[in-house]
Amino acid sequence: MFSRITGIGSFLPGEPVSNDDLAQRGIETSDEWVASRTGIRFRHLAENGEAASDLAFEASRRALTAAGIEASDVDLILVATSTPDFIFPSTACLLQSKLGNRGATAFDIQAVCSGFVYALTVADKFICSGSHRRALVVGAEVFSRILDWSDRATCVLFGDGAGAVVLEASERPGILATALHADGAYHGILSVPGSVCGGKVVGDPFLRMDGQAVFKFAVRVLAEVAEECCQAAGVAPAGIDWLIPHQANVRILEATAKRMKLPMGKVVVTVDRHGNTSAASVPLALDEAVRDGRIHAGHKVMLEGVGGGFTWGAVLFEL
Ligand code: UT7
Repeated sequence: MFSRITGIGSFLPGEPVSNDDLAQRGIETSDEWVASRTGIRFRHLAENGEAASDLAFEASRRALTAAGIEASDVDLILVATSTPDFIFPSTACLLQSKLGNRGATAFDIQAVCSGFVYALTVADKFICSGSHRRALVVGAEVFSRILDWSDRATCVLFGDGAGAVVLEASERPGILATALHADGAYHGILSVPGSVCGGKVVGDPFLRMDGQAVFKFAVRVLAEVAEECCQAAGVAPAGIDWLIPHQANVRILEATAKRMKLPMGKVVVTVDRHGNTSAASVPLALDEAVRDGRIHAGHKVMLEGVGGGFTWGAVLFEL
């Protein structure tokens, strides 16, 4: 038994917010600085009261429509998020309720910017074991809620959004190989080091990052894990039609493509218009490239994540 992606959808809240818009809101930055260091020009920001499950719901509706199935047909719901609606219940259960599905297995996956790649791998294992037949796999984030808007080195980098895929059991291989890793020794270079206790926030509730350490780590592991995934599938890197790495910084994407000897023409780039949407970035980029016709049936696509933990991973699939 194999698993195949049969439907993809995504959702971005509100209107694009430009770097100049942020500068006008009082952040001491410029379009020139942000665009030249990161490639980011726009991001979308959720309204107050718009939660991860709301974005996940819209993306999921679109993925279910693309797959031609109903929410009630799904027997597994996984939501990758680091910005859940509540401490509990899980955002997956809240999404399930919004979709009107009852009885499916539902839980969240917390692997920060690698979350979608982690969730897709978990769903693949469930389906290949024969225990489940149709999974809804979602990456949904409202990172704007955990940004310190007085820290210009981080607040300009992130955005909100959601992406979803339907993964179904199939006799024909769709997902060809997966690889997941983590090294918690690096927990300090990217974190939100706070918690809630006795009704109060204990520690720091905002995202903190050592940008240069993250940059170096990301470039190294993204190339390594792509190579590992190619080897596991018996596919040469040159045989990949499209590479979709986590969208954090266009310079990280360029360095990864260079190490893999792939032209940038094979890399899907959305970071310029979405910013870094953490677990949502990979399915958002996948949806865009499928809907505009770049990725089509028969193409081999490598998805890659890297983020807080540190976590990293890759999924190679054929559409
Ligand atoms: O999912 C993973 C998420 N994280 C990432 O992908 C981040 C990876 N890292 C990066 O993308 C880069 O390290 C950054 C874009 C975050 C930062 O670029 P950098 O070239 O490492 O800059 P820096 O932090 O060394 O800062 C250089 C200067 C500093 O000024 P001084 O000390 O040289 O006077 C900063 O204060 O740029 C200043 N700066 C800014 N200036 C204008 C920092 N943020 C801004 C800003 N606008 N938004």
